[in-house]
Amino acid sequence: MNGPEFLIPCADRVANLPPYVFATVFRMKGQALAAGREVIDLGVGNPDGRAPANIIAALNGTLTDESWNCHGYGTFNGRPEFREAIAAWYGTRFGVEVDPETETLPLIGSKEGLANLMRGYLNSGDTVIIPSPCYPAYFGAARLCEAEIHEPALTEELGFVLDFESIPAQVADRARMLILNYPHNPTGGICDLAFYKKAVAWCRDHQVLLVSDIAYSELGFDPHNPPPSVFQVEGAREVAVEFQSLSKSHNMAGWRVGFAVGGAEVIATLGRVKSNVDFSLFGGIQMAAVEALTGSQKICVDNRALYQHRGELMAAGYAALGWTVPVPRATMYIWSRIPASRGDDDFGFITEVFEKSGVLLSPGSGFGLHGRGYVRTSLVADDTRIARVMELLKTADLAWE
Ligand SMILES: Cc1ncc(COP(=O)(O)O)c(C=O)c1O
Repeated sequence: MNGPEFLIPCADRVANLPPYVFATVFRMKGQALAAGREVIDLGVGNPDGRAPANIIAALNGTLTDESWNCHGYGTFNGRPEFREAIAAWYGTRFGVEVDPETETLPLIGSKEGLANLMRGYLNSGDTVIIPSPCYPAYFGAARLCEAEIHEPALTEELGFVLDFESIPAQVADRARMLILNYPHNPTGGICDLAFYKKAVAWCRDHQVLLVSDIAYSELGFDPHNPPPSVFQVEGAREVAVEFQSLSKSHNMAGWRVGFAVGGAEVIATLGRVKSNVDFSLFGGIQMAAVEALTGSQKICVDNRALYQHRGELMAAGYAALGWTVPVPRATMYIWSRIPASRGDDDFGFITEVFEKSGVLLSPGSGFGLHGRGYVRTSLVADDTRIARVMELLKTADLAWE
């Protein structure tokens, strides 16, 4: 649309947002599709599977259920059934007791919750520690609060686990919030309880709010070591809050459903922000989420097997091209250094790959300062499409070393 120029400027906090790296990627994809080119998008982490039938049935059931009216406004803090289901799930999954009434909060996806939490805790100029590479939405949400971002590196050598020693003392002293995400997007890094113990102790020492994002907790591939919750650590409830999502584990990304768990005060603060912004999520989706948490967990078992298989298949395909990449141990991504001949120019690399093959990867620099020189491959294509990806990459004139 090329209408007249809008006369009213937006707020500085929006005008000052840096350009979104992925906007260029989306534009590239749009132009190629408009030109009728074959495109395989392995950039976004959007599950290609569907939510299972029992979850769909639960939603459908509420639409026609005459015993209550899911069509009207709900309550700000969500349906009691959903909050009970969250508490029960924490009990079975992590052995953690949670009060459904005061320590849980349904969210319209965890992205919404994370952004509203920042609004609840970050004043303009406050410091938030966001280790990177990371889920890029953390940056945008922090910038919209006009917060100062400190970005320590998560390195391959340390398995992408944060080294607390790398945080300068003056940053630690003034920080208000630290964001951790394990299993980790984009690297697939995982952490253990000993790490969470360290994190809780560090946050207690420095009076920092520990935000634990466990959106991929059900996508850890080691059946003997399922990813932990920060609340398995004693003393976490006084400093931490945790965010969970049904987007990836249950193929419900478009449904927009997640939840927060934490001590009564942090949950009340988040609820207070939200009550001024939204009206909780659709009742039908909340009842579907109850089914997701309390019904069969087969979808999580299936997704773990699926993404593990695809990770191995994709890594083997890349290896056959001459590009060695690590096989992920969790999540739905491969995180790999770009071929050495490209230096650190991940954006140049993905652009060339796309122009020559139609295969779209995510540039590592879109995930923060320390993502530079890497790319993320989302495992959102089935075996047939992975085979096609490899065919396209093989016939393209690209150097893989
Ligand atoms: C680490 C991480 N946290 C949170 C989210 C947001 O998930 P949701 O769909 O629940 O908003 C994502 C989505 O990709 C993610 O990768």
